[in-house]
Amino acid sequence: MNNFDSLVVVGAQWGDEGKGKVIDYLAAKADVVARFQGGDNAGHTVVYGANIFKLHHIPSGILYPGCLSLLGNGMVVNPLVLLNELIELEKRSISTENLKISDKAHLIMTYHQVYDRVNEELLGDHKIGTTGRGIGPAYADKALRRGLRAIDLTDINVFRERLAQILPLQNRLLKSAYQHKGYGLDQLVEMYRPALEKLGPMVVDTSRLLADSFSEGKKVLFEGAQGALLDIDHGTYPFVTSSSTVAAAAGSGSGLGPQYTCQVLGVMKAYTTRVGEGPFPSEDNGEAGELLRVQGAEFGTTTGRPRRCGWFDAVIARYAARINGLTGLAITKLDVLSGLETLNVAVTYECDNNSTREFPANLIELEKCKPIYEVFPGWHEDLSRISTMQDLPEAARHYLEALEEAIGVPIELISVGPDRTQTIVRPGSFLAGWYGD
Ligand code: GDP
Ligand code: IMO
Ligand code: MG
Repeated sequence: MNNFDSLVVVGAQWGDEGKGKVIDYLAAKADVVARFQGGDNAGHTVVYGANIFKLHHIPSGILYPGCLSLLGNGMVVNPLVLLNELIELEKRSISTENLKISDKAHLIMTYHQVYDRVNEELLGDHKIGTTGRGIGPAYADKALRRGLRAIDLTDINVFRERLAQILPLQNRLLKSAYQHKGYGLDQLVEMYRPALEKLGPMVVDTSRLLADSFSEGKKVLFEGAQGALLDIDHGTYPFVTSSSTVAAAAGSGSGLGPQYTCQVLGVMKAYTTRVGEGPFPSEDNGEAGELLRVQGAEFGTTTGRPRRCGWFDAVIARYAARINGLTGLAITKLDVLSGLETLNVAVTYECDNNSTREFPANLIELEKCKPIYEVFPGWHEDLSRISTMQDLPEAARHYLEALEEAIGVPIELISVGPDRTQTIVRPGSFLAGWYGD
């Protein structure tokens, strides 16, 4: 088994695949965990014993005291929310000493949330169903070259100066197009002062830190947020988030070349969920969908919204495997399927009487696509205490083999419950190289 030093973990569906759980599990062997895109739209849950942590900005390695946690340049960071997240963790005696923020990460400002909310209101029936965290407007301001960056948090005078340059434009927009009274410069500086005091000293060149970590032979885990089908380029546009969620973004979003990213693990639920609007071919609005929502506790970590639920979709899984270059899969929430008599897996779509294995870019075409299901026998056993592949019921093993075959990527890890311990690594998995076994 070849040892390797870096692993990119990405969501391979529409988010909430259980990335937080998988990353926390793998972080036991990591020296560094780095986020590289997204912001506090992410909600990553980590569970061990009676402890439940819901992380939004902070990498899921934070619970390991020796692990360095980095917020990369590709992220958008809300200083007020991050400050709160840090305080909450510290109250629970979790050290945040090892958290560093890229000087080049962009800031989500309070007015970005106003834009997000009003944009959604004005879109009406065509709304995206965003998390309301101001993600799209913050990335838009970055692209429009009128954003603030984390480096501006390191000096209150620079912060004030930079805001003074931007605020007239933002206020004009807020007042004329968004029916908002706008913000005063002093008002904003005071609003952000406590965040500057706490976060300013954490701002560094994280690209340099990462490069140094690699030269010292350290192990780096890249933590994706959202999922492949929410990617700004490759997802179900416009029903996507505003960042590059695919594995290739780990390099650009953290200031490294592609040679540093060795293996790519795609996290997928054993079924499919989506929160927010947009196409979802294998959605089940009947009894099965309801059962998955209840058994899987499918309510958003960030917004509390009920997640839409449906069957495993191998068409999107194959697509996610291609656009991410997945080298392995982590299948989560297998335990949730217990009790279903039969399990459907969408293997192809039928569109205008033609069968297709490819995920169409055209949403009008996608609306017309019907998933063609292969049906597999279910199982009734409780999987939550199973710790080896061979102890899984035969029907569960058969189901996993079918997914693997339909996607064409090996399953390396299986999750049978939210807890860190409810994890099975396939014998002979390349993940043994992560553990140096
Ligand atoms: P993320 O955004 O990809 O990190 O996923 P979320 O944390 O938003 O949502 C996944 C939810 O499923 C969380 O509540 C996890 O605690 C839970 N979870 C993760 N893996 C499993 C699993 O294998 N079985 C069950 N029952 N729950 C899981
Ligand atoms: P994690 O990292 C699931 C969805 C929103 C909406 C769309 C755009 O926990 O998997 P945004 O606020 O990003 O502009 O919303 O993207 N979305 C997520 N769905 N999990 C997430 O993150 C998500 N982050 C954004 O529901 O449909
Ligand atoms: Mg989530």
